[in-house]
Amino acid sequence: MAKTYRVAVLPGDGIGPEVTREAVETLRLVGEIRGFTLQLTTYPFGAEHYLKTKEAFPASALEEMRGQDAILLGAIGDPRLPVGMLERAIISGIRFGLDLYVNLRPIKLYAADLCPLKGKTPEHIDMVVVRENTEDVYAGIGGFLKKGTADEVAVQEMIFTRKGVERVIRYAFDLARVRAKAKKLTLVDKANAVGAMDLWTRAFEEVGREYSDIARDHAYIDAACMWMVKNPESFDTIVVSNMFGDILTDLGAAVQGGMGIAASGNIHPGKVSMFEPIHGSAPKHAGKNVASPIGAILAAQMLLQYLGETEGAEVIEDSVAELFATGKLKSAGTDSGVGTREQGDWIRQSARRRASTPT
Ligand code: IPM
Ligand code: MG
Repeated sequence: MAKTYRVAVLPGDGIGPEVTREAVETLRLVGEIRGFTLQLTTYPFGAEHYLKTKEAFPASALEEMRGQDAILLGAIGDPRLPVGMLERAIISGIRFGLDLYVNLRPIKLYAADLCPLKGKTPEHIDMVVVRENTEDVYAGIGGFLKKGTADEVAVQEMIFTRKGVERVIRYAFDLARVRAKAKKLTLVDKANAVGAMDLWTRAFEEVGREYSDIARDHAYIDAACMWMVKNPESFDTIVVSNMFGDILTDLGAAVQGGMGIAASGNIHPGKVSMFEPIHGSAPKHAGKNVASPIGAILAAQMLLQYLGETEGAEVIEDSVAELFATGKLKSAGTDSGVGTREQGDWIRQSARRRASTPT
């Protein structure tokens, strides 16, 4: 009997719906090719829904998502609402609510001409960042004193727990082991200035002893940014705390060709996990058919990989790589010269071709 996957789809705001549509159509096609079906539940949460109903992200939706196999998210954020309000309610709501402690962000250059760095080619840029996803300043421990007065105090704590740090480090070591590349894991932190990060140093060292086949490396976050630009080839697998990982992976996205094409997975191994492009809602580009659908399509690819549909995931990745190789796109951004829809169609045609050509 054909496998059925239940996937929650949350297109969200701005360019979210149009890029999500391409990702969903691509998933459906791959399902046809590989013989699985998708049972999709689409959720309306985002700015329009909030403005109409005053509902941001109800607990009942999170409970429903808990019973699905995976979640696909487009983008959240709208300038009409207070900064970060919906992002915290929906994105953080899902990450924290489902304890998705790994934020997995591959940084892979698919074609040399996408890279803004001089002389760097696909062989130089192929790494994966494992960003901790449930602690740090994102944990929301803090608040205001005397808010709005001249004596105001604002505090937000950088929380690290032994359990939280250890589990993400362990995930990263396991990943470094299955990656074909360098068998090297780099810990990125700021332990020289932030004393609490000594917890990372010790956990990395202790867990690392169980992985004697994996070389251990270390870089402070400021230096890691410098190496990312200067010598991206020095990285294979990186493990990093939440906020530093947020920043480092935007830089990583730029190095691989742009925010439009970078994808991520919010993962709790063995449980329902959430996949999303790393770009935001880009309201000024919404509805114009100019946003790159590649970030969302590669998020769908990661989703399939997570569900164990490895061949299906490969079909998507190969088709994306082929699109870049054709040189059809002037860039991987909104000025690519090829529409959102057209890029999606092209990728699906390529996937179809692959399926009908016996290997
Ligand atoms: C990301 C985003 C989010 C984050 C925002 C939207 C809260 O920048 O997924 O990287 O900071 O994690
Ligand atoms: Mg970010």
